[in-house]
Amino acid sequence: MENLKTKLQSVSQGQLMVFLEDLLPEQKESLLRQIEDLDFQKIPEWVAKYVKNDGLLKIPDHFDPAPSYPSRPKTDEQGEKYAKATKAGEDLIRQGKMAGFVVAGGQGTRLGFDGPKGNYPISPVKNKTLFRIFSENLLAAAQKYNTVIPFYIMTSPLNHDTTVEIFEAADYYGLGTENVFIFQQGTLPNFDFDGRILLAEKDKIASSPDGHGGSLRALHSSGAIADMKKRGVEYLSYWQVDNPLVSVVDPLFIGLHVTDDAEMSSKALLKAGPTEKVGNFCLVDGKVTVIEYSDVPDEATHRKNPDGSLAFELGSIGIHMIDVSFIEKLNKDGDFALPFHRAVKKIPHIDKKGDRVQPETPNGVKLETFVFDAIPMAKQSVILQTLRENEFAPVKNAAGTDSAEVTRQMMTGRTAAWLEAAGVKVPRKSDGSPNCTLEIAPSFALTAEDLKAKRDQIPEINPGDKLYLG
Ligand code: UTP
Repeated sequence: MENLKTKLQSVSQGQLMVFLEDLLPEQKESLLRQIEDLDFQKIPEWVAKYVKNDGLLKIPDHFDPAPSYPSRPKTDEQGEKYAKATKAGEDLIRQGKMAGFVVAGGQGTRLGFDGPKGNYPISPVKNKTLFRIFSENLLAAAQKYNTVIPFYIMTSPLNHDTTVEIFEAADYYGLGTENVFIFQQGTLPNFDFDGRILLAEKDKIASSPDGHGGSLRALHSSGAIADMKKRGVEYLSYWQVDNPLVSVVDPLFIGLHVTDDAEMSSKALLKAGPTEKVGNFCLVDGKVTVIEYSDVPDEATHRKNPDGSLAFELGSIGIHMIDVSFIEKLNKDGDFALPFHRAVKKIPHIDKKGDRVQPETPNGVKLETFVFDAIPMAKQSVILQTLRENEFAPVKNAAGTDSAEVTRQMMTGRTAAWLEAAGVKVPRKSDGSPNCTLEIAPSFALTAEDLKAKRDQIPEINPGDKLYLG
């Protein structure tokens, strides 16, 4: 123990053991275990580089807009390429080479929901949770392609046990226990502005999940990659837990990724305006790179093309294709980590006297990594544009923009558009929004085309109806 104390003091973190003598034996043991798990070698560097210094990530001197594939082909040649890619993607799904992967380890502080965000009820008619929606989509896709699509779920120590309980209680939403793999991401300690690690309790280091970028390490260390290899899974469809509109396996996206020999690819949105708060897809030294909106200089943010469109028009939405072999390559030296981003936060902790503090203003730094920082490490990377109304309705906030209410409206909105494309009349209000509430079970239709094929099973829709197509 003296040894540990000296080690801690050598990295200026002696405060972590101040209350040791107040603790019960099991609390003491737990705290010592947490201290032993700290990366003593790295802490001084983290403090100097990221905690005390906020200019950590160097913005490149020169960057250009990244090229992308449009959501619909623009030329005949492109049309042919899309058709071939879709077919190739379907073949890969059929051959069992795809898995779904959701990152669900975030704290969801903005939503303020009690429990894992994936358990948030969101579907407009049946109130299905996000986890149920993703699982049902994967199951329906597996049935459509007569295959198995395993589901990998990343949690954090804060929500892992509850997430496992939720899946168990729901009998794995029909996917089969053997096809669901739930694993935890790592955590990083929280610091005060002087670089001292905070205590959440006398026996507990204040820490937080290491960001969605932690997935690329946790997939490996948890054994998820080994499980994929055993199954012959070669490609991961990656998405965020808050987006129920995501297409969990998209043949076109998979096909373009594979035909262009990419290792990590992305879907992108055309930004709603120059300052929309999404990462910008750029090209740096020939590599696709996401630069955070807050880091893009004003001139570039507002720059226009000759046709009036934004020069940096592509926003990142947390939807990727990732090669299993790429993740293995990143982890081959055993100590893989993406660069840290620094977030100044209000961090509850105990003070020097052991009194609990719930800060009203930011008092420290959390470090996290972002998955898109791995894109430039890929030998090739494809960007496919998608449409907001088709594929991006994140539940982030309790009210206002990106709230559950908006997401539900968008879910009904997409169903309405699919129904109309199938020739069904949907009652609309004077502002154009649907005058009804609509939901489709993934087993009924996964795409607009699937729905068209079931046109004769769809009843008439009257104003104010709540319709579930299941
Ligand atoms: P967000 O950036 O929206 O963060 O995560 P959050 O933690 O869910 O919500 P707030 O900011 O506290 O309100 C985007 C996606 O990345 C996952 C989240 O679960 C979500 O799917 N994520 C985020 C992780 O899996 N781990 C993390 O450490 C952070």
